[in-house]
Amino acid sequence: MKKFIVVLLVSIFSNGLFAAEDWGKTGHRVVGEIAGKYLNKKAEKEITRLLNGHSLAFVANYADDIKSDRQYDAFGPWHYVNFPFGEKYETHPKSEKGDIIQGIEKCITVLKSTNSSREDKVFHLKMLIHFMGDLHQPLHIGLAEDKGGNDFQVRWFSDGTNLHTVWDYKMLDFYEMSYTEVATNTDVLSKEQVKAIKKGTVTDWMYESRVLCEDIYGHTEIGEKLSYNYMYLYMDTLRSQLQKGGIRLAVLLNEIFG
Ligand code: ADE
Ligand code: ZN
Ligand code: ZN
Repeated sequence: MKKFIVVLLVSIFSNGLFAAEDWGKTGHRVVGEIAGKYLNKKAEKEITRLLNGHSLAFVANYADDIKSDRQYDAFGPWHYVNFPFGEKYETHPKSEKGDIIQGIEKCITVLKSTNSSREDKVFHLKMLIHFMGDLHQPLHIGLAEDKGGNDFQVRWFSDGTNLHTVWDYKMLDFYEMSYTEVATNTDVLSKEQVKAIKKGTVTDWMYESRVLCEDIYGHTEIGEKLSYNYMYLYMDTLRSQLQKGGIRLAVLLNEIFG
């Protein structure tokens, strides 16, 4: 009986029935670390002051860490947005509880306002660093019916899991690289490529993730066993999304503080 309970608890925790973790700790840190490389001097100075010298990577998982505290329940819907394939975000009824676009806009407003307290700025800076990671996780621009793939059961090698979790961290964890290793082994980009990535609005970037999300649904079957082939198919996309997330987070921060 004791053994059964231990096995049950281990499987509950390892299957992540409690609090989905988004990109996972590594992915969010990668986004923060890459953003740090693209900050201008003014933004870097102001962020260092607000974060008491900590790095963007250090605070990148704060928005997930507070999920278990009921006091922060209102921020849960800010991690994602769901609307049907073939529909537009703008014409689909907006969630009254907020979504990732409204969340990012709120963070920018608080950070830009001269009336915001230091405490409010610190909180919304940490949230923004996290949400720019989530914005680039394709399943965070998902479908309500399966909660962004959380109810889309698949296998990852021999483990039972779901499609959302594969994208949050199963693929990246399979790489077994630290966040600094991933952040320093990004694709080498030309000036033109960086310029193209920096272009656009938060909503444009959200639609890029949406296109990837649709592609992922077209390539994945319910109950499918995903393994090496899936890594070959999508690992470059995943790495590129983390890189874009970092560069674009820096674009917003340079604009806010610069
Ligand atoms: N919960 C419901 N939909 C979700 C999504 N798209 N991403 C993360 N969590 C969710
Ligand atoms: Zn997630
Ligand atoms: Zn999140």
